[in-house]
Amino acid sequence: MAKTIHVHFLPELTSPEELRGATVVMIDVLRSSTTITEALAVGAREVIPCVELEDVRTRGAELPREELVLGGERGGKKIDLFDLGNSPTEYTAETVADKTVMFTTTNGMKALHCAREAYEVLIGSPANLTAICNAIAETRNVHLLCAGTDGQITREDILAAGAITYQLTRKEETAPQIDDSANLARAAWRNVVAGAVAAGEPLAKRLAHEYRATLGGQNLLQIGLEHDLVTCAEIDRHAIVPKLDLRDWRIRLT
Ligand code: MLT
Repeated sequence: MAKTIHVHFLPELTSPEELRGATVVMIDVLRSSTTITEALAVGAREVIPCVELEDVRTRGAELPREELVLGGERGGKKIDLFDLGNSPTEYTAETVADKTVMFTTTNGMKALHCAREAYEVLIGSPANLTAICNAIAETRNVHLLCAGTDGQITREDILAAGAITYQLTRKEETAPQIDDSANLARAAWRNVVAGAVAAGEPLAKRLAHEYRATLGGQNLLQIGLEHDLVTCAEIDRHAIVPKLDLRDWRIRLT
């Protein structure tokens, strides 16, 4: 069977049934995917994704408080009484090493929930672009699931899906079949790469600039988190692949 790549621009545009049995890469560039990757890269033991604040309380009760870090956002901002917000740079060895991060964000967690029937769920973003592409290079049925922002398509996620699709379709002889959404995402990514080349600009700088006009990027600019756009545009910051364990709903490194 040939390899296929599907891109879903939003969780609302697919369903747990459609994702059943597939390898899903959840993409929430600004910022859940990037922040989860950062937390695990600097030594967090695991990340427990929670859709609701109440889930943070219930699941957090399983462990002593000193082993937990509560992280995440509502409206992009740190939640009252939480330790950390959702800026990747808040997640350092000092703040999260050897800890369990109880993590709740508005869109990324819902996207993970939508993928609950998948065969496996990986977390992808520019921060681990090469690692995620290597991890799924031999996988037959790949679904790239963009989290979006409050039910709206957001371009930073599409660009990351396009970057992954582009990497996986570069070798013509083994190129997978891709759906129209994957084709659109890849074209959007190639456009950004071409723009960077034409301007003689580093790709990460160009990407951070592109984020300024996306829905997710605009939300962060409005609350003064411009520096997150720069961090989230860094390509291959880490060579790791976070994976959601679908039995115990914890994200760890593969
Ligand atoms: C989310 O999951 O909703 C996002 O990561 C939003 C944000 O970081 O502000």
